[in-house]
Amino acid sequence: MAGTGKAHLRDTDDVLLRVEDLVVEFPAGRGQKVHAVSGISFDVRKGETLGVVGESGCGKSTTGRAIMQLPQPTAGSVELDGVDLTQLSSTALRRTRPELQMIFQDPISSLNPRRRVKDIVARGLSIWGADDRVKEERVNEVLDAVGLDPVSVGGRRPHEFSGGQCQRICIARTLVLEPKVIICDEPVSSLDVSVQAQILNLLEEMKERYGLTLVFIAHDLAVVKNVSDRVVVMYLGKICEVGSPEVIYNNPAHHYTKVLLASIPKPEPRRGLPKEEGSSLAGELPSPMAPPSGCRFRTRCPAAQQKCADEEPQLRPVDDDHFVACHFPLEPTAVNGAGPAT
Ligand SMILES: Nc1ncnc2c1ncn2[C@@H]1O[C@H](COP(=O)(O)OP(=O)(O)OP(=O)(O)O)[C@@H](O)[C@H]1O
Ligand code: SF4
Ligand SMILES: [Mg+2]
Repeated sequence: MAGTGKAHLRDTDDVLLRVEDLVVEFPAGRGQKVHAVSGISFDVRKGETLGVVGESGCGKSTTGRAIMQLPQPTAGSVELDGVDLTQLSSTALRRTRPELQMIFQDPISSLNPRRRVKDIVARGLSIWGADDRVKEERVNEVLDAVGLDPVSVGGRRPHEFSGGQCQRICIARTLVLEPKVIICDEPVSSLDVSVQAQILNLLEEMKERYGLTLVFIAHDLAVVKNVSDRVVVMYLGKICEVGSPEVIYNNPAHHYTKVLLASIPKPEPRRGLPKEEGSSLAGELPSPMAPPSGCRFRTRCPAAQQKCADEEPQLRPVDDDHFVACHFPLEPTAVNGAGPAT
């Protein structure tokens, strides 16, 4: 099948968010640049959760922020419901803000410690000039929806709450503006394992209740597998593979996806079995200031050949909703032991 280098869905799909040829570069002094995101394209269907995974520094947060236009990407487009956000004036962009919201990794530091919870949650509405009655009703509704009692928490300040409760406040703060899309950037990474499941369940409930579309960024593959309808795997500013969690976790086609999966600790390692060859990530992540030519994964790939250095592999469809950027993809297997046990 021919490759367009883009993981776009079919025309018949209800695409809410389309990211096209997104590039984000940061100046790094002496004329150098950090190539944080280097021309990635993908779609998000209305109502789906798109997981984004990859090791630290691969560009996940930068992608999330570029979708939000925080800051505007170096190049490329971000269409929300057919409107290219990169082409909007700052006033027009401001008007779209309520539709696109973001939740961050560290809930405690993302809340203003001096403000009361009800004012934090109401802030977006205040910016839009909502009257006091509307604000109060809406704030009470979303606090209640995220499992916090508006009467007892509304007047308190963030330091009085646990990390999990602060993340509930952050979620309430995004919901109050009735967004279409929420970018969740590692929303449970900083929380205790026991609290993580509660917050993930809450996000799932809110998605159903408010008809949300989620982009879920995480380095924890097991979490992404459980919450996502489709998964994007990133490496050093590029997309390696896009597919359903079943395909990505049981039949990865990209060598990076395979080693990433093998790096997940297994709850009960099978005793006596030899370690799978090429099952761990060899070598250091190359510098994003001077990424390798051709395939960016080639310096760590067990299957690399000359072509991998000479030619950049384009993302191409290998099956329905399954795209891979590799010159020599893995053959599909009936059962692949690399997937995490759930
Ligand atoms: N403001 C910035 N200025 C310079 N470089 C940056 C900036 N923000 C990010 N980077 C660099 O861009 C690359 C991608 O960073 P990003 O934070 O998007 O990665 P990530 O996948 O979210 O990693 P993590 O899992 O650690 O959160 C990294 O090399 C990072 O150092
Ligand atoms: S293109 Fe080459 S180096 Fe890159 S993942 Fe495929 S085989 Fe490995
Ligand atoms: Mg990040």
